[in-house]
Amino acid sequence: MNLLRRPRRLRSSPQLRALVRETTLGAADFILPLFVSEKIKGRAAVASMPGVFQLDEDELLKDAAEAHKAGVHAVILFGIPAGKDERATQACAENGVVQRAVRRLKRELPGLIVVTDVCLCEYMSHGHCGITEFREGVPHVHNDPSVELLVATAVSHARAGADVVAPSDMMDGRVGAIRAGLDDAGFHDTVIMSYAAKFASAFYGPFRDAAESAPSAGDRRAYQMDSANALEALREVELDVAEGADIVMVKPGLPYLDLVWRIKERFGLPTAVFSVSGEYAMLKAATERGWLDERAAVLEQMTAFKRAGADLIITYWARQCVGWLA
Ligand code: PBG
Ligand code: ZN
Repeated sequence: MNLLRRPRRLRSSPQLRALVRETTLGAADFILPLFVSEKIKGRAAVASMPGVFQLDEDELLKDAAEAHKAGVHAVILFGIPAGKDERATQACAENGVVQRAVRRLKRELPGLIVVTDVCLCEYMSHGHCGITEFREGVPHVHNDPSVELLVATAVSHARAGADVVAPSDMMDGRVGAIRAGLDDAGFHDTVIMSYAAKFASAFYGPFRDAAESAPSAGDRRAYQMDSANALEALREVELDVAEGADIVMVKPGLPYLDLVWRIKERFGLPTAVFSVSGEYAMLKAATERGWLDERAAVLEQMTAFKRAGADLIITYWARQCVGWLA
């Protein structure tokens, strides 16, 4: 057969495939989530996330240093405070668990980019992401007073030395308020990575074990987005961009690749994707049974994120990915 177009020509060797590859992964693409806890000594395994641990401050430093040495450029911190209340007092405390951890990380590993998750759920006794009033047991999360606490939290993280603050609460107007709060406090260069298109998702379950942040009553559907809505996601991103987000995020990852694509095409901003705890747990469960090859399956997913337009990938596999790619 004479065929002008034989697509297989370019697939015939690893070298040719590499020559024409459209999407590549690099160590700088990954952000590693880490959980720092005031409640434990050493480390505590998270049952639903094999290989993920709650860490005390010393163990956090160890894991961060090891990841950094292996080639991870950035970590995102989640805190588990010793005490919770109805005003998330510890979220913005100068000596809060995250603030202390950030100070130490920046002192001991100045080259490591430190991102902080800015939310209140881990610090609230009821586990909701804002100030919550219960009417007949039904939670109502108040937007504007919650934004004030989020601003104070973001500024306290910046004061501790965070390079990037990442609000994950989904309150309206919080990006603009945080930008103004940071600027007023002199932190003009603190980056905002907003969880712009964050969906109410069943895939956050294992995270809530890890962060001890499951809501005690109700769910997050009155503030996180409905998974059926793409146009709404575009409007959410548009608002966050207008309010000053430097990086926008889509979360979860795999079930929302269409939005990674549309958001990157439409706004052209640095776009992050959060491959969430449930995505990690399901693939781990399959690989532990020997049903899937972990390295191949993970790298294929990471490539899919980048192919869809993501510039940054937050993943619990960040450490392994940089190792596999080295
Ligand atoms: C806090 C927060 C959550 C995640 C990131 N920040 C949980 C939630 O919104 O319930 C989820 C991360 C993951 O599942 O890996 N608001
Ligand atoms: Zn939250």
